[in-house]
Amino acid sequence: MTEARSRRTVAGIIGTGFMGEVHARAIRRSGAELRRVVGSTPERSREAGERLGLDRFTDDLATLLADPEIDVVHVCTPNATHAEFVRAILDAGKHVICEKPLAVTADEADDLTRRADAAGLVATVPFVYRFYPMVREARARLASGASGEVRLLHGSYLQDWLAQTDDDNWRVSAEHGGASRAFADIGVHWCDLLEFVTGHRITRVTARTLIAMPERAGRPVTTEDAAVLLLETDRGATGTLTVSQISPGRKNRLWFSVDAARESLSFDQENPDSLWVGGRDVNQQLLRGARPAAGAASYDVLPAGHPQGYQDCFDAFVRDTYAALRGGKPDGLPTFADGLRAARITAAVIESAATGTWVDIDELHTPEQELIA
Ligand SMILES: NC(=O)c1ccc[n+]([C@@H]2O[C@H](COP(=O)([O-])OP(=O)(O)OC[C@H]3O[C@@H](n4cnc5c(N)ncnc54)[C@H](O)[C@@H]3O)[C@@H](O)[C@H]2O)c1
Repeated sequence: MTEARSRRTVAGIIGTGFMGEVHARAIRRSGAELRRVVGSTPERSREAGERLGLDRFTDDLATLLADPEIDVVHVCTPNATHAEFVRAILDAGKHVICEKPLAVTADEADDLTRRADAAGLVATVPFVYRFYPMVREARARLASGASGEVRLLHGSYLQDWLAQTDDDNWRVSAEHGGASRAFADIGVHWCDLLEFVTGHRITRVTARTLIAMPERAGRPVTTEDAAVLLLETDRGATGTLTVSQISPGRKNRLWFSVDAARESLSFDQENPDSLWVGGRDVNQQLLRGARPAAGAASYDVLPAGHPQGYQDCFDAFVRDTYAALRGGKPDGLPTFADGLRAARITAAVIESAATGTWVDIDELHTPEQELIA
């Protein structure tokens, strides 16, 4: 075993807001060392370092990257900054976790994915809803054939934190968040989750977007508050999705139903320890921990009846990413390829909303596929 493999993983973070804190907890819970954090200014870096109890202060990303013991850097900054930071991290030969959306355009996401592949570094994107045990349960049930052929996918991802005209955030600005807001911010999670659970790939979409408040905080708004999609998959299923950041009372309602030939499976992120299984004769509410399917048990970290949640998903995602750094191959780890796929679906949503037509999703061309072609 090399020295690098025998010592614990050492991590750094750029971006010290909501996600920076979530990642910091996950890093520590994985048993890794959080060594350095970088904010938008040296003062913010220092404040965050103090808050997180670090014994060294790091003014900028260059200083973080110059630390030879840092194995992996977590990018938790606004969307438009991701590409520049990820390139610098990969150039420094470090593994990277980059928040979604991986980049604000599909071309940029493609470039980052190719660079990570070429460098042979682990590069993941936190599509963390994959890590709920009951999501793994649904996936295992569908993969086993118990549910039958998947026919219909439907659901929503609804929030309310931008429901008022004076609600504002960097995400509202296309310059910082990208051309798509609600879909790129949360709709991509739903699409990733449904592809993960069913194994289907979304092949085309037609989308309509809504800007309910064309002005916020005195500034014109060009990014969508909500989006509705019709979609089709490569294995003959069809579906609908509603995404909104302006639905009063809906805090983080990621909900789906996969309606297959023998049963429907339904999951609600706000009540994540259960999975509803609907049948013609009997409906069941499966509870986490009761009889976990193969592949779900390792994500069950608390005894049944002690609710697990969002942070537990992050802990599992970071744990699995770090296992990959050590040569492991954890099942269902979302990588840059998945971030690129989300960027391509986003590009199709933007195009469809502008043209009113169906738009095909470009398939991922991995370097391997290019060699075969
Ligand atoms: N995977 C998920 O479930 C999930 C959930 C929420 C947000 N996100 C993503 O995480 C990222 C951050 O979102 P957030 O909610 O934490 O935002 P936030 O506004 O809470 O935090 C962003 C932080 O980045 C810092 N920052 C801005 N520019 C910077 C720069 N040039 N250098 C260093 N730091 C800089 C800001 O000071 C702030 O502390 C976004 O890409 C977002 O889409 C992912």
